[in-house]
Amino acid sequence: MSDGERNPLDMEKLVSLCKRRGYIFPGSDLYGGLNGTWDYGPLGVELKRNIKDAWWRAVVRERDDVVGLDAAILMNPQVWVASGHVSGFTDPMVDCKACQGRFRADHIEDNRCPGCGAVGQFTEVRRFNLMFKTFVGPVESEAAQVYLRPETAQGIFVNFPNVLAATRKRVPFGIAQIGKAFRNEINPRNFTYRSREFEQMELEFFCKPGSDEEWHRRWLDERFNWYLKLGLRKDRLRLRQHAKEELAHYAKDTYDIEYLFPWGWGELEGIANRADFDLKQHQQFAGKSLEYFDDDGKERYIPYVIEPSGGVDRTALAFLVDAYAEDAAPDAKGKEEPRVVLRLHPALAPVKVAVLPLSRNEKLRPQAREVFDLLRRAGISSEYDDAQSIGRRYRRQDEIGTPLCVTIDFQTVEEDKQVTIRDRDSMQQVRVPIAELVAALREKLV
Ligand code: GAP
Repeated sequence: MSDGERNPLDMEKLVSLCKRRGYIFPGSDLYGGLNGTWDYGPLGVELKRNIKDAWWRAVVRERDDVVGLDAAILMNPQVWVASGHVSGFTDPMVDCKACQGRFRADHIEDNRCPGCGAVGQFTEVRRFNLMFKTFVGPVESEAAQVYLRPETAQGIFVNFPNVLAATRKRVPFGIAQIGKAFRNEINPRNFTYRSREFEQMELEFFCKPGSDEEWHRRWLDERFNWYLKLGLRKDRLRLRQHAKEELAHYAKDTYDIEYLFPWGWGELEGIANRADFDLKQHQQFAGKSLEYFDDDGKERYIPYVIEPSGGVDRTALAFLVDAYAEDAAPDAKGKEEPRVVLRLHPALAPVKVAVLPLSRNEKLRPQAREVFDLLRRAGISSEYDDAQSIGRRYRRQDEIGTPLCVTIDFQTVEEDKQVTIRDRDSMQQVRVPIAELVAALREKLV
């Protein structure tokens, strides 16, 4: 994962901000937590929604060659036999005889236990299947056993003939899906980066064999640029091709889009050329033809698949890490004070605009509420805040990543019906008439 480079951010600061401000809480916090699970608070759920909306727009809505799907999490268990997950979705695992801790064998360095430091105290390597099991119906028998899906992809593959029959789509075309996936990771770690329950954004793009490498290149470009457009710093983003021995059992070629996290480079999204592996497997195990007939009926083939597969949680974490900054801002008396600011792209920021009356003075309230209603009616996600001093409210909005604050003061009410727009990043302030406010905000929020 890492080759020595590090993002300088102190993760403790971000984790603490996330909990304090309502981005991310430990799962089941009230009961002492459940390892590998996280709950997204009022701001976190908006951030995730904005990420998913941006992905859906770029991958589905703005194209005419991709359609969406929302398949069930529970699937016929044969699906996972066909996909190779029952036999092959395993991690190598060792137990430490000294502390009884369980670790991934490929994460051990110098034969030293990451838990207690004991050297050479490990059991033999065993394979551990990462799929969660449960039962359908009232009987907990092997026949009733099913899995929580470890990827959303298989729901797409098994629906390939349904979508083909139900739409007018012809190869090349893709099916996209966003949804939960579950993996019983041996060592969940690095905040939400490696969780046991997470969300994936996956596209399976079906194309004619022979055109697959060209489509692979196109999707690599598309997906890499998506992260850049949403503000991730270019020098913290890279494409890394898998070495032959690293390739998954289904992959002909894979690239990872990686971000430089505080613990080193880590995968945000894998973009694999899965060739015809999955459709062939399902054709064999389901006993139904999944061949595709070209329009003129002259050619029939099993389509190849290019799969951009990203994680919502990892992407959200990368955006948070990248956005976190500490600088200085003037307080009410003009003295420079340290501030924490999340420089989130406006499209991702949970709150776009904060409406702030200068004080709680009754003269300001009706006008401030009117401005707030105006923004809500215009569909601009806004927050009304009149608690504490204006300086502290700016700090709070900076810390949660709100790009713009609109301040209503006595001059607004008594003189000119103008408000002040304050920019989170430059901290510059401009006054605009309320009649022009929505247009001015829209211009700044792109
Ligand atoms: N269908 C292909 C597939 O699932 P993957 O590389 O195993 O490929 C795709 O997973 C993406 O899902 C990863 O790039 C990552 O963003 C996310 N992901 C995988 N395991 C995860 C975990 N334990 N916690 C959070 N996100 C995870």
